[in-house]
Amino acid sequence: MRITLSIIKADIGSVGGHIKPSEDLLKAVKDFVVEKGKGLIKSFYVSHTGDDVAILMSHTHGVGAEEIHRLAWDAFVAGTAVAKRQGLYGAGQDLLKDAFSGNVRGMGPAVAELEFDERPNEPFLFFAADKTDPGAYNLPLYLAFCDPMYNAGLMLSPSMAEGFEFTIMDVSYTEGDRVIKLRAPEDIYDIAALLRDNQRFVVESIHSRNNGEIAASVSTTRLHNIAGKYTGKDDPVMLVRVQGAFPATGEVLSPFSIGHYVAGFMRGSHTGPLMPVVKNSSISFFDGPPVVACLAFCVHEGELTEPADAFDHPYWDSIRNKVSDKATAIREQGFSGAAMLPYSELEYGGIVEKMKTLDRKFTVRE
Ligand code: 13P
Ligand code: 13P
Ligand code: MG
Ligand code: MG
Repeated sequence: MRITLSIIKADIGSVGGHIKPSEDLLKAVKDFVVEKGKGLIKSFYVSHTGDDVAILMSHTHGVGAEEIHRLAWDAFVAGTAVAKRQGLYGAGQDLLKDAFSGNVRGMGPAVAELEFDERPNEPFLFFAADKTDPGAYNLPLYLAFCDPMYNAGLMLSPSMAEGFEFTIMDVSYTEGDRVIKLRAPEDIYDIAALLRDNQRFVVESIHSRNNGEIAASVSTTRLHNIAGKYTGKDDPVMLVRVQGAFPATGEVLSPFSIGHYVAGFMRGSHTGPLMPVVKNSSISFFDGPPVVACLAFCVHEGELTEPADAFDHPYWDSIRNKVSDKATAIREQGFSGAAMLPYSELEYGGIVEKMKTLDRKFTVRE
């Protein structure tokens, strides 16, 4: 059966700052999808990661389908009404346009979609991260799809021996989708040269070279480019198919043990380590640290199983402790140097005004 998985997520308001949505907000989103999704979608799952609400849907309408995107948009509008009623912080934060027009791309919500012919068994992973941006997945995807140090299957599995094709987007180009296709293993130095720059070049999708099938899809939204000013970080979602011609689940999870430093954290303007967390986690220290959750599912004839919470395992406790230590270490130097993002990435307009004022006060000594 040909099936599409769509994950559409938005921050539509949260309790106590940028921490987590309220129970009532989540219920409003779920109730809306239950009612209006009848006959349209096969199956769905609603979860949150920090203050971001994600709707995972399986259906047969293909990628970018207007009715699917509208369902998610309208569900977020319904959730926003609750957020406003409860006085939640940042109600409707990611709904940047007044009216839905065909597709949520470019309207604020993040979207990642996969369309494929179901295998007899179809396991996949849904990732959602908060307080960071799509470039946060660059390193884990590189390691999981290019590096036998993290993915043993690249050596051991004949169906992965041919490697993968990366589609990488230049997200600072705003006139349209500027993309490049590069192949692992022969292009890995070029892939690395692009993916080192997490704010400019972002993995959009990955395909198997063994069967041409799509393996991974990442949301590439930059809210800053849509709104022209800071409205929140571009907290990214990702779908990854696993097993068979794709990496094993554990091979995709493996690079998340690094807790690598990503952009985001407080006011979207800092550098912090990415902490793997259990589903429906909240946010705390310095509006962070940046977090990522992973839910593993199987889908059959469009029907989703219950999720297995991939980072809910004793192994990840020591990783979380390590990430806490890394977060404390970088926070000790406050605003200085590497602890904050470069000027071009600072998400608050205030600093631009401040620099203009200061610039006028400079004098050049005779
Ligand atoms: P199976 O032996 O169940 O196929 O598992 C292989 C595997 O992918 C382990 O990582
Ligand atoms: P979100 O992008 O998750 O809403 O966080 C915004 C922020 O400024 C946190 O300090
Ligand atoms: Mg928020
Ligand atoms: Mg968020």
